[in-house]
Amino acid sequence: MYTEKVLDHFNNPRNVGEIENPSGVGTVGNATCGDIMRIYLDIDENGIIRDVKFKTFGCGAAVATSSMATELVKGKTVQEALEVTNVAVMEALDGLPAVKVHCSLLAEEAIHAALWDYAEKAGIVIEGLEKPKGDIHEGETECESE
Ligand code: FES
Repeated sequence: MYTEKVLDHFNNPRNVGEIENPSGVGTVGNATCGDIMRIYLDIDENGIIRDVKFKTFGCGAAVATSSMATELVKGKTVQEALEVTNVAVMEALDGLPAVKVHCSLLAEEAIHAALWDYAEKAGIVIEGLEKPKGDIHEGETECESE
């Protein structure tokens, strides 16, 4: 059911933890399954994400997608991080079962929420970034916890 990459990121999640005094932090949840994801960003003066950490209270796919999402945005510019969509995260994991697609949406939205927080704190506008939603359930068909 799960690819090797998903199992690897679930069993050995990268970038778990938190960042003290982050440049931006974003928390999103899915009210249907109750899963919550928080992403911390440390962004340098050139707009490069030099560190990223996450905490996820959720299913295995939510852990794997947040782990992969942090790997994909690390070292990137803010604009490049915006391109890390849930589809990009799923592709990097070699796919997710259909009922788990919504878990990857949490990862995308958690990054966007952290970027939004960064932009607000820094007093800047990130082109193409929309205000994050609190509850992520769009595009989901079913939400099953592990
Ligand atoms: Fe809801 Fe994975 S995020 S089951």
